[in-house]
Amino acid sequence: MSARVVVGITGASGAAVAVRVVEMLREAGTETHLVVSRWGRATLEHECGMGVRDLAPLVADIHSNGDMAAPISSGSFGVDATLVVPCSARTLGSIAAGTGDTLVARAADVALKERTRLVLAVREAPLSSIHLRNALAVSEAGGVVHPIVPTFYARPASVAELVDDIAARLVALCGVRSPLRRWGVDLGIDPRGDAQNRTGDPS
Ligand SMILES: Cc1cc2nc3c(=O)[nH]c(=O)nc-3n(C[C@H](O)[C@H](O)[C@H](O)COP(=O)(O)O)c2cc1C
Repeated sequence: MSARVVVGITGASGAAVAVRVVEMLREAGTETHLVVSRWGRATLEHECGMGVRDLAPLVADIHSNGDMAAPISSGSFGVDATLVVPCSARTLGSIAAGTGDTLVARAADVALKERTRLVLAVREAPLSSIHLRNALAVSEAGGVVHPIVPTFYARPASVAELVDDIAARLVALCGVRSPLRRWGVDLGIDPRGDAQNRTGDPS
């Protein structure tokens, strides 16, 4: 049976990561339920020149962010993982407060109450104390807060590679095996050599 994953796209920068996540989930045979907020649509258009309809062939269903009667609004629907990518500070706040005022926030609330995987790819900088407190509240409630940050040690040759790396990590956090796992890279660092430097022991 394929994994059932909710992907929420909200109005933060990083829509390209969301697009790659949806593509990777498709490659992995996941049943993806997509919700895009109003400002998520705007950033998708602004940053990727894409509309929500462009993602339709890759997902099982697209739900309106105002549709609280959508199946993913209920815990009994049974979802394996919920990922908000990118997650705006506004939606992070709604999730932390448990308001369930949008379908994205409600789906995240369901994930927390049902104790299923919740991953928030937060994108804001700098982070205020309010953002940090909200992230802590979600983490303490069982969610994973994975900011959209680049991993330079993988030595990405392009922005596309960098985006792929972040997307693959998020997909893996959803419990889905991604064909594009890039970590485990050879850093060319000899850990024994490092230990020698610290201890002065040449053996
Ligand atoms: C082009 C653009 C980029 C934005 N980037 C961010 C961002 O990186 N992080 C963030 O928290 N908000 C960002 N915002 C502001 C959010 O879109 C705004 O707070 C919105 O109310 C979020 O609503 P939503 O969470 O329902 O999508 C951006 C807005 C626009 C128009």
